[in-house]
Amino acid sequence: MIQCWRLDDRRQTLVLGSHRDHLAEVIYWGPRLPDDEDLNTLFTVHAIDVTGGMLDLNPELSVSPEATRTFPGQPGLIVRARDGTQLLTKFCLVKANEERGKLSLVYTDENNGLTYTARFAINTRTHVIEAQASLEADQPVHLHWMSAPVIPAPQLSDEMIDFAGRWCGEFQLNRTAWSPGMRFRENRTGRTGHEHFPGLIIPCRGATNTQGHAYAFHYGWSGGHKMIAEELPDGRRQIQFGHAERMEVAPQTRFQTAPLYITFSDDGLNGCAVAFQRHLRDEIVHMPDVARPRPVHFNCWEAVYFDHNLPTLKEIASRAAALGAERFVLDDGWFGRRDDDTRALSDWEVDPRKYPDGLNPLIDHVHGLGMTFGLWFEPEMINPDSDIHRAHPDWALGGEDQILGRNQKALNMALAEVQDFLFDRIASVLRDHAIEYIKWDHNRVLPMPDADQTRGSYALMDRLRAEFPHVEIESCASGGGRIDFGILKRTHRIWLSDSNDALERLKMQHNAALFLPAAVTGSHVGPRKCHTSGRILDMSFRAWVAAQRHMGIEMDPRELTDDEAGTLETVIGWWKENRGWMMDADILRLESPDPAVVAEQQLAADHARFVVFAGKAATSSQIAPRPLRLTRLDPQARYRVTLINRDSAGSLSRGTQTLKSESVDLSGTYLMNHGLTLPWSFPETMWVIEGLRR
Ligand code: GLA
Repeated sequence: MIQCWRLDDRRQTLVLGSHRDHLAEVIYWGPRLPDDEDLNTLFTVHAIDVTGGMLDLNPELSVSPEATRTFPGQPGLIVRARDGTQLLTKFCLVKANEERGKLSLVYTDENNGLTYTARFAINTRTHVIEAQASLEADQPVHLHWMSAPVIPAPQLSDEMIDFAGRWCGEFQLNRTAWSPGMRFRENRTGRTGHEHFPGLIIPCRGATNTQGHAYAFHYGWSGGHKMIAEELPDGRRQIQFGHAERMEVAPQTRFQTAPLYITFSDDGLNGCAVAFQRHLRDEIVHMPDVARPRPVHFNCWEAVYFDHNLPTLKEIASRAAALGAERFVLDDGWFGRRDDDTRALSDWEVDPRKYPDGLNPLIDHVHGLGMTFGLWFEPEMINPDSDIHRAHPDWALGGEDQILGRNQKALNMALAEVQDFLFDRIASVLRDHAIEYIKWDHNRVLPMPDADQTRGSYALMDRLRAEFPHVEIESCASGGGRIDFGILKRTHRIWLSDSNDALERLKMQHNAALFLPAAVTGSHVGPRKCHTSGRILDMSFRAWVAAQRHMGIEMDPRELTDDEAGTLETVIGWWKENRGWMMDADILRLESPDPAVVAEQQLAADHARFVVFAGKAATSSQIAPRPLRLTRLDPQARYRVTLINRDSAGSLSRGTQTLKSESVDLSGTYLMNHGLTLPWSFPETMWVIEGLRR
């Protein structure tokens, strides 16, 4: 007997089908099918042919392809009995539960005492489908590998896009051509990692940012993932995502993958990006107070590093407030004897040498300036040179002779006493002070991947969130080393990168927008001479790049000239006026005809306004700027278009373009098909264009 199930939203349909109670296969995923499409017929016509040199039937590319069915590629599940014997599974359907937009398929393998469940849930508002697998066993078993429900990849696609990165260089795109065999990416560092963001985009042939079909995937887990994108000898393609292999170190009776978030777009990569941005912002992140505008940050790290001195910090806070900051974050250096990064992690008590009267004098000063107060922690870490390590050397994860990372070890988060200790210390700091924000860091990789570690971190965060629901958390890990939907279920902002270099940020933010909305993406105005690149950038460029996301400042404001302070104040003022709609806007990556220009359009939820940021990342090969096409406007509507920073046109821009002197009214059709011709500009500058629907 054939059984089929479908999940729909306005733009996509996912159909699963199974024969004789075998594990179901995704037999269709793409544009929405007619309501009366006969799914059983789809199932029968979806089978590929058999010819010489093949088995007599093609093994199913199911939600968990099984080696016992002679599947010619990577299996979806590898599990062993306690004694190490491999359990060769043969699952049989026992139950299918379908309710509006949700489907769960339950299978058992009686011989091996295993139950496998695949769950799907479609969000009709955001267009994101969550897919998750779980395994239950009668006896404890060893899990080597379990993929979230396996999804076939499109055939009319020549390449896949995934993400690499490094410290100060997050979200670098890799494009890899499809070919027989597999692309295997695995992050065994024990955190989400700079190196392998758990995301994948598969554009169909001809797809761009703004048009064509594209499929996208994100695995919402902070412990390190594995991805397989495989083309089988018969031409079929499969995508698998799960925890990194062998992360479940102990035999257990229950395992679960993280949710795999997937979406199909019929309007280019932006369709995927907007789905993820909205899903993350509206369904994953839980802001303590949704109505409260995102506050402008000031973070003191690049201003003072470990050199905390109360009068200096007060002066810096006063200057930050005068520039428009609304939240002051005291970074590393306030606790233990933390004078540099060699010591004191875990000694979470205020350093009386630096703060003889505790933190309250600083907090009161910050409050007096109308700002709120945030504090840095790095809970999962411990320096060997710390009181806590001296008292509890057994709390550290990994061997005595392990290589340290930034002079530190990780704590064993699976230990209840470690979790209790961290909860008590952090809770007591939060109880004793008016703190409404934690910057939660994680600056080293783990000595080995272990899912218990990630679950331990999640449990600690959940406990703190429950006790202090008004406290927001920022996820930082040497910048963007822990960015994923799993951590963002319990946090509210990510520190995209330790690079405050606006030029690097411009590109990083552009790529990260494939997954991340502005409301959670921290972006700070750094020092004139960037501390991580040595580059000297103009204040206007630094400020506008930060204004593209959740804006902040991270530098010593005492270095500012009057001119720089004026520019920064103006841009912060602009950001505050616009954040109400920008933090809910869709970030649309524009197709730039000039590779030197990195451009995006933020379109308000009601489509009544937009802002375009066109950043010049290099000198152009041609002499005059090429027109920049906008996207997703109403072709019939007219828009009042204003180049809001036209005063910054340099003397080498000698023409008399109208945009340089006044606003213009243009139709959506013109803007989307011809595009805006902007004035000539230096590299490392940004044009900012506002549009208002008339
Ligand atoms: C990490 C973070 C920085 C800063 C330092 C403090 O590197 O990414 O932003 O907080 O730690 O030690």
